[in-house]
Amino acid sequence: MIIEKRTEIGRLVTFIPNKHTPIHNWFYYKEGFSRDFVELIIRSLKLGRESWVLDPFCGVGTTQLTCKELGVNAMGIDVADLPVFVSKVKTADYDVSVLKEVSKKIFSEKFRRQDLSGLSSIVRKAFPRHVLEDVLFFRGIVEEIEDDVVNGFFKLGLMSAAIKASYIVKDGGVLKIVKKKNIPPFRKFYRNRIKRMIRDLEEFKTLNPTIITLKTDSRNLKFMDDNIFDAVITSPPYLNKIEYTKVYRVENELFFKEAEPMLRSYIGDLVENHVDSEYGDLPAIASAYFKDLKRVLSEIYRVLKEGGRGVFVIAQGVFPTGIVESEKIFSKIASEIGFETECMWLVNRRVATRDRVVKIGYADEFVIFLRK
Ligand SMILES: C[S@@+](CC[C@H](N)C(=O)[O-])C[C@H]1O[C@@H](n2cnc3c(N)ncnc32)[C@H](O)[C@@H]1O
Repeated sequence: MIIEKRTEIGRLVTFIPNKHTPIHNWFYYKEGFSRDFVELIIRSLKLGRESWVLDPFCGVGTTQLTCKELGVNAMGIDVADLPVFVSKVKTADYDVSVLKEVSKKIFSEKFRRQDLSGLSSIVRKAFPRHVLEDVLFFRGIVEEIEDDVVNGFFKLGLMSAAIKASYIVKDGGVLKIVKKKNIPPFRKFYRNRIKRMIRDLEEFKTLNPTIITLKTDSRNLKFMDDNIFDAVITSPPYLNKIEYTKVYRVENELFFKEAEPMLRSYIGDLVENHVDSEYGDLPAIASAYFKDLKRVLSEIYRVLKEGGRGVFVIAQGVFPTGIVESEKIFSKIASEIGFETECMWLVNRRVATRDRVVKIGYADEFVIFLRK
């Protein structure tokens, strides 16, 4: 197996470059990769106007939005409400003059006091009271917008402005409440955000391919025909990282009714005992993870065209007992299914610790190229 050292693109498999990329930066999703990564892959696989790309773990739609810009047809799938919503808003087609009209109306409404009694204590602690009242006030107005596309646009602007004006700090997989002093006046802040989002749309160029985002579980893609995609570009949830629902608890409570935990049976039974799985002596959680990944990979194999390519960002898992070399297990599973692993890029090397301080080695991150 050829492993190429490509650490110069390590940053591209993170969300950080998107912070300064219009539309991609409408919502900060720590788990995401960057627009530039997707472009790099699209160019190296020579995908074009006739091609179809699938991202079965699409998060906030980085793949679909980049495809929209570059004129490649794309479908994104995610199992959670929040990323599906963000993906849809970022890739929708808008009539900017309607957005400007609605914006004028929204920001001319007179503030009405809001009842905070139904909210959880974490949401109440996450904002200064006057900001929270403002957020609820605008939420009420936005909910009344009948057109779903327009409604989504203002809801996303509100959601990200709310988080910016909160005490929330997302530190790894943990949500922290840190009392900051200078929180900007919310109405002005939200209005500026909407202005900027409208400007982003005015400047965005697209070749108008077909872009679809679906909320479903990628372990079961029965509804799809065989042999339809030219490529898969994706980053599955990392082995022992981030429990998504926790970090987005405040957004979920304020803007979605998603009470159920995210469908992710990879969380397994959370018992950290070892099982002798078919892929070696693994922590139970890792064994459950690879079982699920095998189901997804089998589905991907089926829906890819003959000769189709799969590009996956995969990181090694860090457990108190040591490092799990996910890339090797991934490649083994892929070959059992029928894929050929063409090559791997080593893109990041991070120090792995136990109990946050004890160094136990390095956790590497790879981009893996498969061919059907
Ligand atoms: C690493 S993130 C992908 C981020 C994406 N590349 C981006 O730029 O936003 C993994 C995503 O997989 C989703 N996910 C987890 N389990 C899933 C499943 N069974 N089916 C579909 N999506 C799933 C999570 O909700 C999460 O958004």
